[in-house]
Amino acid sequence: MEEKITLSVIKADVGGLCGHTLAPDELLDTCEYVLEEAIDELLIDYYVTRCGDDIDLIMTHKLGTDNENIHGLAWKAFEEATEVAKELKLYGAGQDLLAEGFTGNVKGMGPGCAEMEFVERPSEPVIVFCCDKTDPTAFNMPFYKIFADPFHTAGLVYDNSMTGGFKFDVLDMYGNKQITLKTPEESYSLLALIGNLEKYAVKRVFRAKDNEIAAIASSEKLNLMAGKYVGKDDPVAIVRAQSGMPAVGEVLEAFATPHLVPGWMRGCHWGPLMPVGEDDARPSRFDGPPRIMALGFQLSEGRLVGPNDLFADISFNNARQKALDMADMIRSMGPFQPHRLPESMMEYSSIPQIMEALKDRFVDTEKVKKLEKTRERGDME
Ligand code: 13P
Ligand code: 13P
Ligand code: MG
Ligand code: MG
Repeated sequence: MEEKITLSVIKADVGGLCGHTLAPDELLDTCEYVLEEAIDELLIDYYVTRCGDDIDLIMTHKLGTDNENIHGLAWKAFEEATEVAKELKLYGAGQDLLAEGFTGNVKGMGPGCAEMEFVERPSEPVIVFCCDKTDPTAFNMPFYKIFADPFHTAGLVYDNSMTGGFKFDVLDMYGNKQITLKTPEESYSLLALIGNLEKYAVKRVFRAKDNEIAAIASSEKLNLMAGKYVGKDDPVAIVRAQSGMPAVGEVLEAFATPHLVPGWMRGCHWGPLMPVGEDDARPSRFDGPPRIMALGFQLSEGRLVGPNDLFADISFNNARQKALDMADMIRSMGPFQPHRLPESMMEYSSIPQIMEALKDRFVDTEKVKKLEKTRERGDME
């Protein structure tokens, strides 16, 4: 059997300079130092980057997904970066390290993670997406376009390896349940679910003809506690491209027309997802607007050749301008829906307390009517 390579992308926000805007170089250097020490022993290769206040550790190895040593290494990097963040009094130092001490897997402990294991193809192009100020449902629409919409991905029509379609693993965030739906046959059922970002998130996509893994998004926090929405987690995702998968340009095309995603200020607003290069992944206006980076790598025996900073290309300038125009438009709504998220999706909210304080002041509308009538009669007399 051919040996498999694992690509692990593990991310966390351990502090921002300033507020929630940027993970500074000091934190990235600390993470790099920790990962460098693990080269040969655990890792084949790594690349450390940031999107806004989130640090993304992109790692290759042969230990498979959910490996305790790899997750422990990422945890150690984030812990050491947290120490630096505390020293610098960065904002929200240690924000995503929710648990005390590592217990074997970062899932459920705060960091987000997207991992896939596969036999490296003769040429293996992969795209790592890193986001800030949004949550994993940001990938629902792009994944549908990339893997199920022939108006979007020409290869679904022209490439024999893809005409059999793709399978989508969809997570029910409230039920702690998952369902797999196959396109094109079940496209409408799939859309019926994943168009609802309050409830469903696409977790993984497989090529139907051979169950080859095609894409994965981090979705840890979405079902951390059954029945309770525990919130936004600025997500990461991995997509494999070319040779029987959508072409790199077909994958990227899904971000050429910006869509609205949940997140932005206080994790409480809809905002446009703006594609940016690494240098522009520093959200500031209203802590945003939400951002996505796309780093293209070629794997060579697990070595990460690259990255090519794919959204830095000028062909995404119009998408950026459009996202900024959408930002102006939706910002004008202030605290009103549809800029404001529905209550169930708000990350930080004082609304439950406001409702508690006001609950005894609500009057039954029938009573109000009677009261008004009595008042009218009083006026006539
Ligand atoms: P604080 O300023 O109270 O931390 O809250 C605002 C915020 O930034 C929420 O993330
Ligand atoms: P992060 O989730 O990126 O830390 O942002 C939180 C926030 O409240 C921004 O306004
Ligand atoms: Mg933050
Ligand atoms: Mg963030």
